[in-house]
Amino acid sequence: MSVLSALYPWIKSAHIVSMVAWMAGLFYLPRLFVYHCQVARGSAESERFKVMERRLLKQITTPAMIATFIFGILLAATPGAIDWAAGWWHVKLLCVLILAAFHGKMGAWRRDFLEDRNTRSERFYRIANEVPTVLLLVVVVMVVVQPF
Ligand code: HEM
Repeated sequence: MSVLSALYPWIKSAHIVSMVAWMAGLFYLPRLFVYHCQVARGSAESERFKVMERRLLKQITTPAMIATFIFGILLAATPGAIDWAAGWWHVKLLCVLILAAFHGKMGAWRRDFLEDRNTRSERFYRIANEVPTVLLLVVVVMVVVQPF
């Protein structure tokens, strides 16, 4: 039995924990942007949101994404762990790539707020908030139900 096989349940636990932390960040950042839209540029509240956004992205969400990828790749590298031809696996990977792209967008939106040049509406961020929710739902159904 390889080291990866012996550690499989532990790596899967770490994968799930880091995924939860990543999703928490992807859910909460657009909420902060919604609140940030409601305050005046240059106000003390606006400056406080900038600090909260930076910390949430840089100290939690980005490290959690990296950890999810590392543990996920270790799981995928475990001999016999997944059927590479299964349809659910490809749908999951596609959703993971979209989540990573969404993460990148969030970084760009944070920079716009940081430099006081956000032009997107509160409604835009409310809708953006639903994107990770839908993707998480699809990923969990794919890995747990494995419908095809
Ligand atoms: C590079 C990215 C990723 C890779 C390579 C990857 C790979 C894997 C692999 C190989 C498994 C084990 C499947 C099995 O034992 O049947 C797994 C489990 C899991 N993954 Fe990922 N994953 C990635 C990202 C994600 C993301 C972003 C999420 C959630 C949004 C996620 C959620 C889960 C869950 C919930 C399980 C546990 C399924 C079970 O109970 O067996 N993964 N992942």
